[in-house]
Formats: sequence, C-alpha cells, structure tokens
Amino acid sequence: MTAYPKVSINMAMTLDGKVSRPDGKWYGLSSRNDKKRMDEIRSRADVLILGKNSILNDDPVIHLRYVENEEDPRPVILLRSGTLPEDKKVFRFSKQPPLIFCLNENYSVVRANLCSVAEIILLPGDDLNPADVLKILSEMGYHEILLEGGPSLNDSFFRLDLISRIYVTIVPFIIGKKDLPSITGDRKEYPDFDHKKWDLVSSETSENEVFLIYHRVE
Ligand SMILES: NC(=O)c1ccc[n+]([C@@H]2O[C@H](COP(=O)([O-])OP(=O)(O)OC[C@H]3O[C@@H](n4cnc5c(N)ncnc54)[C@H](OP(=O)(O)O)[C@@H]3O)[C@@H](O)[C@H]2O)c1
Repeated sequence: MTAYPKVSINMAMTLDGKVSRPDGKWYGLSSRNDKKRMDEIRSRADVLILGKNSILNDDPVIHLRYVENEEDPRPVILLRSGTLPEDKKVFRFSKQPPLIFCLNENYSVVRANLCSVAEIILLPGDDLNPADVLKILSEMGYHEILLEGGPSLNDSFFRLDLISRIYVTIVPFIIGKKDLPSITGDRKEYPDFDHKKWDLVSSETSENEVFLIYHRVE
C-alpha cells in the first residue's frame, strides 16, 4: 500500500457554513488573528496546494508575513485545463518556484506562459488524480501537505479519503445566500460519510472567531 503524505486542509467559513461571498471571492471576513494563525499553520507545511479558481478569484498572498524565520511552503497548483496568468502573486512573490501539475491537453499552453516562473510536471491520463500528485510529492521529499481550497479541489481529496486533519476557522458572519459552497462537496455525498468520524482535538476562541482542529479517526 502506498504511504501518502499527511494532508491537512485549512479553511475559514461563516456561521452559515459558506466559504465564499456572493461574488465568488473570499476577502474581508476573517481577522488579522486568523491570518496570523494561517501563517503558523503554513509554516509547518512543506507544500501548499492551491485551487486554480481561488488563484484566479482571490490572487492570495502566499509568502509568510506574520511568522518570522520560517521557510515558506512551496506552492503547488493543479491545472487540468488551460493555464493561469503569470502576473498572479503566487508566481511573483513565492520564495520557491511553484510546482504545477498538468495534463497532455494543456501542457503546451502551461509551458508557453509559465515555464520561466514555475516547475511543470506532466501527468499521464486525462485527469489529475490527487493520489498521483501526493505520490510524486512524497517522492520529491515533501511530507506535510497543506491544502487551502477552494471547495472543488478540497472535494477531490476528501472523496479519496486523503485528508487527515482539518483546520477550520468560524467567522462571525451569516451570508444567507443559498448554494454558496462550504469547505468541500460536489453533487454526490461521500460514501459511508456517517461512518467516517473526526475527532475534535482543539477548540479555541479569540475575540469573535472559533478555531477548530479535527483529526480523522482511522
Ligand atoms: N474561505 C476560505 O478559506 C477559502 C479558501 C480558498 C478558497 N476560497 C473560495 O473558494 C473559491 C474557489 O473555489 P472553487 O471550488 O470554485 O475552485 P478551486 O477549488 O479553487 O479550483 C478548482 C479548479 O481547479 C482545477 N483542478 C485541477 N485539478 C483538480 C482536481 N483534481 N479536482 C478539482 N479541481 C481541480 C479545476 O480547473 P481546471 O479543470 O480548469 O483545471 C477546478 O475547476 C474562491 O473564489 C474563494 O473565494 C475560500
């Protein structure tokens, strides 16, 4: 059996379980304290996997700002189709060049615009299987993996039961709009979801936010 690296996810959600605003972006709803904790969590990871839409919509800052003397985790991006603009912060400010996994279908377009700012790995087949990605990351010596969404990318890892730890911050807002995504999910539920248990290993409050850590029960 392949020993996959440990994967944690880190997400912030509103009191009504939403992880993006009605405009499809996430900004302004979590505190400076949450951002500091995010950096602490990131500083313990070897790599940080980011979703394509999250980069397009939010253009997140990747380098650590609130934790000093720590190495930044290496950004990893999964692209099944098309590419990304090279002016995104992940390409401009990362201390280590991002690692991109892509497929035959989009290899030439990804190479054409990102080969000077990222390392590109072509995977065989017609889908990017998270288990294959984790196997390669492990072979490259990366063992602590942090996945920061969005929900579609999280779903592909949850669906294969590859997540062992969840960091979730609950922020004090209620958006109310139906059909906004939660931390994960697609059209179908996870098989046996009610038999897969999660242990609450830490629960802290700071001002109006709650910081939870859950571990997957083996
Ligand atoms: N609250 C939070 O903590 C938080 C954190 C992060 C993001 N967000 C929110 O989440 C929103 C985006 O979420 P999203 O679900 O739309 O997109 P996403 O998860 O950021 O990106 C999904 C895209 O990644 C590509 N992809 C490549 N391999 C994949 C795989 N194996 N499984 C799934 N996707 C794969 C696909 O695009 P291609 O098929 O074109 O390659 C897919 O459409 C953001 O706009 C942001 O506001 C919130």
